[in-house]
Amino acid sequence: MIKARIVGTGSYVPKKVVTNHDIEKLVDTSDEWIMERTGIKERRVAERGQTTSDLAYEASHKALKAAGIAPGDLDLILVATTTPDTIMPSLGCVLQEKLRAKKAAAFDVYAACSGFIYGLSVANAFIKSDTYTNILLVGAETLSRFVDWEDRTTCVLFGDGAGAVVIQRHAGKRGILSAHLHSDGALGNLLYVPAGGALHPPTHDTIHKRMHYIKMKGNETFKVAVRALEDVVQEALEHNKVKPEEIDLLVPHQANMRIIQAMAKRLNMPLEKVVITIEKYGNTSAASIPMALDEAVRAGRIKDHDLLLLEAFGGGLTWASALVRW
Ligand code: COA
Repeated sequence: MIKARIVGTGSYVPKKVVTNHDIEKLVDTSDEWIMERTGIKERRVAERGQTTSDLAYEASHKALKAAGIAPGDLDLILVATTTPDTIMPSLGCVLQEKLRAKKAAAFDVYAACSGFIYGLSVANAFIKSDTYTNILLVGAETLSRFVDWEDRTTCVLFGDGAGAVVIQRHAGKRGILSAHLHSDGALGNLLYVPAGGALHPPTHDTIHKRMHYIKMKGNETFKVAVRALEDVVQEALEHNKVKPEEIDLLVPHQANMRIIQAMAKRLNMPLEKVVITIEKYGNTSAASIPMALDEAVRAGRIKDHDLLLLEAFGGGLTWASALVRW
């Protein structure tokens, strides 16, 4: 049976650390509030001039090294991002040039925080259809450029970073077992950036009204997220006829520690079986799962044949789960 298997991981975060105490100086908030409501202690922020493609490049370089292949071996580059360097060209194409991966086709997957699992599903389909053999999938974001540093309801949540995986065609039982994707455009107004697209192109007025920044109805988003994640995780378990106790590691999107705890409780999993990076990095959107995955791999937390459950929720709205036999 042909499977799409992750054969190398890598991640990268900018060096600059912004703590909750640093943010206390910008808006009316406190370390206690942020820790209690979100589990975030600090986040990384890209330096001036450092772009999403720079972070993606570093993470990709490490993933390619771990996989033991060269950029020239890649057939396809997929980048999950909502914060590309430019609207055009795509981040995938910018990264292709930086890596000098001349043979690879490249494009972006645009599904906010669920982007990495959406990308996993696209990679899986290309491998199963025998279209490509070596795929680089990257989740990369510089959300610090799109948060309103005067809005305490959002600026405390997000961070910058990138994670990458190399996915290869393999015969056997190891690899992506399933990916389930969902969207509900009717709830798009819970988490969005009002301007900068064709609806409201940049004008002095859109800038004056701070319409180029992320807006979120946090509390409503939270409630929808918990319900949707429970459903999509259940869908993955039922589809694969797997019981929660058979899962070795949960690799969740890192949006809020309380959401992560709710999922672990629902699955009756102790937190030792959950990869948690939110305290250090905050919500890095499409980058959070591949960053967490790479951290777990490098810490020796994942053994061959382990069963991994990935889940994510984000703007769109979008949500997704994947089951992976490592
Ligand atoms: N510091 C201090 N107070 C803050 C604050 C901050 N940074 N941000 C909001 N508050 C205040 C609010 O103004 C509100 O005050 P009020 O009661 O006087 O009106 C109060 O805290 C409660 O706000 P609420 O939004 O109900 O808090 P919450 O418990 O829902 O936590 C989030 C807010 C954003 C942390 C939480 O809702 C969340 O994580 N949502 C989901 C995020 C998510 O999953 N996004 C999608 C994936 S990317």
